[in-house]
Amino acid sequence: MKIVGISGSPNSKGNNSRMVDHSLAIAKENGFDIEKISLADVNISPCTDCGVCKNERSCSIDDDMGRIYEILESADGLIVSSPVYFGTLSGQLKMLFDRTLPLRRNGFLLKDKIGAALAVGGSRNGGQEYTIWSIHAWMHIHGMIVVGDNNHFGGIAQKDVDSDDVGMKTVEDTVNKLCSTLKKFAST
Ligand SMILES: Cc1cc2nc3c(=O)[nH]c(=O)nc-3n(C[C@H](O)[C@H](O)[C@H](O)COP(=O)(O)O)c2cc1C
Repeated sequence: MKIVGISGSPNSKGNNSRMVDHSLAIAKENGFDIEKISLADVNISPCTDCGVCKNERSCSIDDDMGRIYEILESADGLIVSSPVYFGTLSGQLKMLFDRTLPLRRNGFLLKDKIGAALAVGGSRNGGQEYTIWSIHAWMHIHGMIVVGDNNHFGGIAQKDVDSDDVGMKTVEDTVNKLCSTLKKFAST
């Protein structure tokens, strides 16, 4: 089984990237295959509502989403991390979310994948919960199964995450919940 981590930050070595790396290392220790998508390294244009995906499983925009669709479809679990930007998710992550419409319109291809969310802000209470809620909304609208940190909503951290022990504990609890849920599904 495979867990895909998405870092929704434009910074390749930033807090989100490090949180996703840490999460994927835990997933690997739990025996999962892992793959990372960093929005610092990809070119994604916004959805233009052209309507092409209403009739066929394709997108009129030719960019990195082509291979991202394949990676998302290959996942059993998804861990999605965003910086808090003005109280909600990053524009980079929202662009990816909107471009996943072809997967929903053509057979709900992300349905029943297990999803979990992480958020990091410059402030302790800068909008992390709302950011996580926005990520959960995307997951629910795809028919995914959403888990939190076995306590509250997911991983909530303040930068710099390397010194935020309380926040990183919620990140670790979230990825462990994702792993244990996937294992339960696999054993049924
Ligand atoms: C445009 C912008 C808006 C931001 N808005 C918020 C905010 O509303 N609340 C907050 O706590 N931090 C805010 N920040 C700080 C970022 O959340 C913080 O720098 C980010 O989580 C770091 O993630 P990264 O290192 O992965 O890029 C903002 C940063 C930027 C660039």
